[in-house]
Amino acid sequence: MCGIVGYAGHQEAAPILLDGLSKLEYRGYDSAGICVQGPWGLEVMKTKGRLQALRELTREGAKLPGVVGIGHTRWATHGAPSDRNSHPHLSDDGAIAVVHNGIIENYLELKERLIARGCRFQSDTDTEVVSNLIAHYYAKTRDFLEAVRQAVRRLEGSFALGILCRENPGTVIAVKKDSPLIFGFGQGENFIASDVPAILKYTRKVAYLDDGDMAVFTAHAVTFYNALGDPIKKKPETITWELSAAERGGFPHFMLKEIFEQPKALRDTLHPRLQEGQVCLDEISLPEDYLRGIRRIYIAACGSAYYVGCLGKYILEKTCRIPTEAVLASEFRYASPVLGKDTLVIIVSQSGETADTLAALREARRQGAGTLAIVNVVGSAIAKAADQVIYTWAGPEIAVATTKAYSTQLSVLYLLALHMARALGTMEEEALSQATAALEALPDQVADTLTPERIAQVQHYASALFDNHDVFFIGRNVDSATCLEGSLKLKEIAYVHSEAYAAGELKHGPISLIERGTLVVAVATVAELFDKTMSNIKEVKARGADVLCLTTQDLAAEAEKTADFVITVPRIHPLFQPSLNVIPLQAFSYYTALARGCDVDKPRNLAKSVTVE
Ligand code: AGP
Repeated sequence: MCGIVGYAGHQEAAPILLDGLSKLEYRGYDSAGICVQGPWGLEVMKTKGRLQALRELTREGAKLPGVVGIGHTRWATHGAPSDRNSHPHLSDDGAIAVVHNGIIENYLELKERLIARGCRFQSDTDTEVVSNLIAHYYAKTRDFLEAVRQAVRRLEGSFALGILCRENPGTVIAVKKDSPLIFGFGQGENFIASDVPAILKYTRKVAYLDDGDMAVFTAHAVTFYNALGDPIKKKPETITWELSAAERGGFPHFMLKEIFEQPKALRDTLHPRLQEGQVCLDEISLPEDYLRGIRRIYIAACGSAYYVGCLGKYILEKTCRIPTEAVLASEFRYASPVLGKDTLVIIVSQSGETADTLAALREARRQGAGTLAIVNVVGSAIAKAADQVIYTWAGPEIAVATTKAYSTQLSVLYLLALHMARALGTMEEEALSQATAALEALPDQVADTLTPERIAQVQHYASALFDNHDVFFIGRNVDSATCLEGSLKLKEIAYVHSEAYAAGELKHGPISLIERGTLVVAVATVAELFDKTMSNIKEVKARGADVLCLTTQDLAAEAEKTADFVITVPRIHPLFQPSLNVIPLQAFSYYTALARGCDVDKPRNLAKSVTVE
């Protein structure tokens, strides 16, 4: 959604803030700004556009001397991207500066009241209400912390805040509710940030703020308070991964790097949980008697994580024979779902901060359902709110378009399926052993799919097909679920309108859209449904479509008789085949986006983590 950084220390703040924001640009990048506590008070410089524009405006921070400051990189919610809507926002009296990630849902009501008291606003944002509300209470109390507390009590919605007060030089106050915020413990300096990469260069000791927490800190001290205002202790956690994991490492784009990191991400996620030919999920508890009482499983998520859930339906029903439904988290709580102790709700989220997914989790808990989260970010809100959590060890995923997180989420569902099937006895021992051995081989099979020849072939097809304006992805059974992800990838980074349809559904209406030159991507790897999908290819070709078929090597010759272009992947255990199938689709969208001159890592209108509903 947005990126926040704060600093109080002995070094010049502006360069540290700019460096931190550069590691958070994936969270939002339509404008950026910093505020430094300088010799003359609170100095703000901010601008529409990428962070580079702010670097140039501030001359890499040289124009803002001072050792305490806050910074922000924005994904616009209220108010179009512009200089005046950029953060930080100063209060009308210039006493308070605020950076904010989230949405203040009652900002209009508060804004009207403040205007009625003579307050003047410069922007269309909800955030400017926060700075003026704090200033209002500060004028009354002359107490920075008390003013923040009183203002925060009036706020409804989600907010991670970094706050400076002109009359309290050297002090930064941070507030966390529903949007992520971490505290970094330094030596003679302290930090806040929306995510670890922003401060990992300076400290590995962090604390994840919980909802309602506040941190009041200077260069040498910090006091944490809980939602009740009581002082609390926050245990520092040590970040173990390297900053290089959050840098491009020689790749032209994070997305390409993360596509090629998938074998490692899968190894890191799977191998600690595969011991002596068995799945070992010690981090959770799903005993047989609990599982036998489960009437239904829901998999609730958004975007690509939801498409993992669509595959999860097939995987869990096939292995565990428990009715399973993938649901859009943004719809889930409004659909009056019938939940209870006999329902297991699996929550899937890379960031662990997606507002819709967090809300779905809370609804599940409210109704007494069991909740199990599959999350990539340790200590994230969803990881903390769920009854149980299984982490994907994909490492930081920086590209807005997910690849390795998607793949590792899927691999955790495989683990869960085999683990539950063993507890329930719903798979023959031999089948279970074969599947577990096949799962152990998956990372290497993904590596074998990422061959230079296959990637070059995909790049060649993308360069020939990139100019299509309407693309259909069709497939059957698990291939239709993979089509959903392939279609989203093309939409979100290449800005190509594409739709995913169950291949058998096309003739019930959508085929009317097929005309000469329409590109149809047919995913046909389910052997027993291959012939039916070939028939669907013939149907669309008869109406002028160009067809790119993704199939397995053993079916290539057949596919080449029908499709115009064919990409193949190795055939592996059918349960895990989707993990190979998605690789060429990721690469196809990547190279199509390049051919169309799109910004692959920072696609327009998007942000890595959508922390607003
Ligand atoms: C995927 O490429 C998109 N960036 C988006 O659909 C994403 O999967 C979705 O917003 C869910 O994010 P989460 O996994 O962090 O909850």
